[in-house]
Amino acid sequence: MERKLLIAGNWKMNLSFSEASDLTKQVIAEFGKEERIDVLLCPSFVYLHTVEYIARGTRIAVGAQNCYWEQKGAFTGEISAPMIKSLNCSHVILGHSERRHVFGETNEMVNKEMHAVYNENLIPVLCVGETIEERKSGKLFDVVKEQLVEGLKGINLDNADKLVIAYEPVWAIGTGEVATPDQAQEMHEYIRKLMNENYGGEISGKVRILYGGSVKPGNASELLSQKDIDGALIGGASLKADSFIGIGKAVL
Ligand code: PGA
Repeated sequence: MERKLLIAGNWKMNLSFSEASDLTKQVIAEFGKEERIDVLLCPSFVYLHTVEYIARGTRIAVGAQNCYWEQKGAFTGEISAPMIKSLNCSHVILGHSERRHVFGETNEMVNKEMHAVYNENLIPVLCVGETIEERKSGKLFDVVKEQLVEGLKGINLDNADKLVIAYEPVWAIGTGEVATPDQAQEMHEYIRKLMNENYGGEISGKVRILYGGSVKPGNASELLSQKDIDGALIGGASLKADSFIGIGKAVL
């Protein structure tokens, strides 16, 4: 089944206001009208409005990096799904390994966030992935299955376009140690099989599963040419126009 590649930049807690604006403009100059791939930028919350404003009317989508599950109220420092929706953003990254491992988010919390995001018709980019210890002890498939099944609990997925999954092995994030194309493909195939069991062939055949973890212009094309890899979630290499654009060009 044909799935358009999605190239997503996760800027994490990086860039100044002017750097974020400049990077957005450079990405638009290259991919603003590109129809062969989809491009998503996920800046820090504080730049969401600006990036969305600059990208409005182009083919560049804009998403947040996380959100809290309550709609509004006394939750100092948090951001809700309705707020993100009101900025005309389309995506929200959820369950990123840094949220799980640095900020202690559990599968249950990620599931609540998933529901909040679905209720606003935003598209979650649900991140899953094992640590190096979990891989070495052979638990990698169990861990990813739990993250996926728990994360999607109670989600009535009727359209594959309403979800993006990102497989990001924790040991490959920001380390320069990229998963081999075979390692990544093996897990992506497993995730697609799980989606087939839970949601059927129509959804599992169309849902996009991104790979994330030390993706660079030099390794992108081999990874993204694997059968079940439908794009990339890019951290470090998304912060510079030449490397982010280089990844997009490498897979055109
Ligand atoms: P990285 O990060 O590309 O810097 O490894 C990927 C991610 O955390 O999404």
